[in-house]
Amino acid sequence: MTVMPADLSGIDVRAEIERLRKERNAVILAHYYQRPELQDLADFVGDSLELSRKAAETDADVIAFCGVKFMADTAKILSPNKIVVLPDINAGCSLEDSCPPEKFKAFREAHPDHIALTYINCSTEVKALSDIIVTSSSAETILQQIPADQKIIFGPDRHLGGYLSRKFNREMLLWPGVCIVHEAFSETELLKLKAQHPGAPIAAHPECPPHIVDHADYVGSTSGILQYAATIPQDTLIVATEPHIIHQMQLSIPNKTFIGAPGADGNCNCNICPYMALNTLEKLYVALRDLTPRVEIEEPLRLAAKKSLDRMLEMASGTIGKGDLGSR
Ligand code: 13P
Ligand code: SF4
Repeated sequence: MTVMPADLSGIDVRAEIERLRKERNAVILAHYYQRPELQDLADFVGDSLELSRKAAETDADVIAFCGVKFMADTAKILSPNKIVVLPDINAGCSLEDSCPPEKFKAFREAHPDHIALTYINCSTEVKALSDIIVTSSSAETILQQIPADQKIIFGPDRHLGGYLSRKFNREMLLWPGVCIVHEAFSETELLKLKAQHPGAPIAAHPECPPHIVDHADYVGSTSGILQYAATIPQDTLIVATEPHIIHQMQLSIPNKTFIGAPGADGNCNCNICPYMALNTLEKLYVALRDLTPRVEIEEPLRLAAKKSLDRMLEMASGTIGKGDLGSR
């Protein structure tokens, strides 16, 4: 149930979140695509790999996950004895939606000699049907550990899969899913922006289609892009990923200018993730107060999904979660 902000008039939501965070022994985890006010009060802000690691190692009793459902599900899979709440339970993901478990199962059965290397942006059921999970910051390290003659299915993001396939000259069967947010960047508008800022490099998330990635000076995960922004000598960077990450860049690198890559209408606001945006300060307060909406997963399904996630955590143990995809 979603409580509207109007019901909360007279309540100091920030003060209440602080009180409840202590009272509940809660940790607040946030993804870089969350609204700035949620990033600012989180105990930890990170990419998908870093957030999974935090969820697995926390000693809090409650994890309040400011992100999307597959991220909160991952936290519950890795920390089953914690209460995991997601401020808005409808915060889904177009990649997860593109890959119904029964269709994925049939696809796997049609290719029995392939292993399934699967992007973390998928349902718990699809994780349970997969061999190894990857995030954008761990995909390269993990792919390099798979023998060259091993056939691979990669899903659900065909752009990340295609990018890896081109970079490593490795054939993979790609599931046809896309992120609606990264799909919406416009090559024409990006080139116009680049012409206005010829000295500014372009950093892109690998969920972007090839016509965007091909213009990028750096391709990597959200944390990788942040690290790149801090290390480049230029004072301006064009950022082709969800624009809320720019908040974190402005906090950590205040002397540089960050420009969101545009969509077809010439501005970057069409690239705000509509799912991530469902979480608000008010909904976080209600989630901590009522300990709902709560993520629950049946134990057999959780154990099946945990195997592929554990493989990711083992195989990515050498990565620091800082976007090891690196430059093209
Ligand atoms: P990373 O933060 O792991 O780069 O992934 C971004 C993402 O897919 C969130 O939707
Ligand atoms: Fe899913 Fe794309 Fe939103 Fe990430 S940005 S949660 S991949 S829809």
